[in-house]
Parts: sequence; C-alpha cells; structure tokens
Amino acid sequence: MARQRPNVFWMEKLGATVVPVTDGSRTLKDAINEAFRDWVTSMDNTHYVLGTVCGPHPFPEMVAWFQSIIGTEAHKQILAQHGGMPARVYACVGGGSNAMGIFQGFLDESDVELIGVEAGGKGLDTDQHASRMVGDRAAAGVAQGYKTMFLQDDDGQMLDTHSIAAGLDYVGISPILSDLGEKGRVRFEAATDDEVLEALTLTMRTEGIIPALESSHAFVQAFKEAPSMSRDEAIIINMSGRGDKDIFTIAHAFDDPSWKEFIIARADSYR
Ligand SMILES: Cc1ncc(COP(=O)(O)O)c(C=O)c1O
Repeated sequence: MARQRPNVFWMEKLGATVVPVTDGSRTLKDAINEAFRDWVTSMDNTHYVLGTVCGPHPFPEMVAWFQSIIGTEAHKQILAQHGGMPARVYACVGGGSNAMGIFQGFLDESDVELIGVEAGGKGLDTDQHASRMVGDRAAAGVAQGYKTMFLQDDDGQMLDTHSIAAGLDYVGISPILSDLGEKGRVRFEAATDDEVLEALTLTMRTEGIIPALESSHAFVQAFKEAPSMSRDEAIIINMSGRGDKDIFTIAHAFDDPSWKEFIIARADSYR
C-alpha cells in the first residue's frame, strides 16, 4: 500500500476499503493469500477478482482476453506508422497481464520476437529478485489455485521476492506465459533495480516520458539490444503505466529529500 500509495488513494476516494496485509513479506503473494482467506469465509456476499493473468481458471484466459485490446491496437498502429511488423516487442512481466495483452497482437507473426522482462531486483546471483523464468530459483508447482513456475525452495515453500517495482514483486507468473516461454515463443530476460533507475532517468531526460518502475524493466532490455539492431527495424516497448504513482519510491531511490519534505509539508498544512 505504501509503494502504490497514489493508486490506493484513488481506490479509497472511489469508495473501496483497502486493507493492509501484515503477514509474511507483505507483498502481492501475501495479499492474494489474505484475499483468498477472506473470500472462503464470506462467499455469500463477496466475489474474488484478480487483475492479472494468474490464479484459477478463468482468470488467466479472461484477463488475457480483456488485455488483448493492447495488442490489437499496437498491431494496427505499427502497421500504420511503420508500414510493417516490429522486429521485437518488449514488456515487463509481473503476473503477466500487460505482456500477454501486447504479445497477443503478435503471437501469429512468427518473425516478431517477443521479450518478457522480469524483476532482477538486486541481481540474479542474490536471493532478492522475482525472476521466475530467468535464473534457477523457480520450479513448476501448484499454489493460489493454479499451476505455473513459482519461486520456491526444495521443500516447495514459496520464497520471498524483491523488486523496486511493487507490481513485479511476485512469486508466480501467468501459466500462459510460462508455457509460451517453455515453447520458445517468448524470450525472458531480467533487469536489476539499478538498471531500471538508469533506464528511467534516460527515458525521462531524452523522451520526456515518465514510465512506471514496472514498465522501466522493458525499457532496460530494449536499450541493451537496440544498438545492435538495424536502423530499419522497429521495436515496441509496452508502457504498462505512468511513473506518477512511483514518485516517492523513485525520490527515495535517488536519495532525494523531496519525498520526506512533501509528507511533512502536507502534514503541516492540515495542522
Ligand atoms: C504499471 C504496472 N505495470 C506492470 C505491472 C505488473 O503486472 P502485470 O505483469 O500483470 O502486467 C503492474 C502491477 O501492479 C503495474 O502497476
């Protein structure tokens, strides 16, 4: 809730009650467990919903279908603007909804390479990341109502995850995406927190665009690969969200005092 504060603020203003989770590592995994716990005791008057392409059927297929509008639009727009297909499409992968959304527009275009970028956190050689398809800390398992690659130990206990981006800080991945990865249709890469801050800074200063920390993972990989591509090849980077919601996390990461000053100034103005 702290890391997604602006989103939580708007949810509350729209009338939602947002309940903080105090269990475990207090990330998305724990929030999903808690939501399941509450749901099984109050099925008469509540319904479980999930915004990403994970969890029990029909969520993966249903959310993938909703999000496919992104791929349909991107396919149309790249044809109109570039006159052909892109060479590569990049998307960050938390649960996988934005990646599935854009990839679906290009799955049948066999020449278009699809690249999913996971949270490399403090590095794949540490235990502080959330990379399921890259690295060797994940294995197939069943949890939270579905079967996929989960970050887990030898006893099948879920591992803690870390990412600077709250939305990528999750142990599982869409079963559809892990299948596409296994079949070789989607290539997976990982971007570290430091690389993300660097790519975010470059994007802001050169393009005037402020991508979300999650989306910045996709920018990292595109920036790594673009120099070795031909100038005629087009690439698409899916910007899954704006960085406005991340203002305090980013200020904190850059050691900028503004996040503290902002909070103190707001508190003072209410005295
Ligand atoms: C801006 C943004 N991008 C990406 C994600 C990751 O989710 P998914 O992989 O389902 O697109 C999130 C999740 O909260 C998000 O807020």
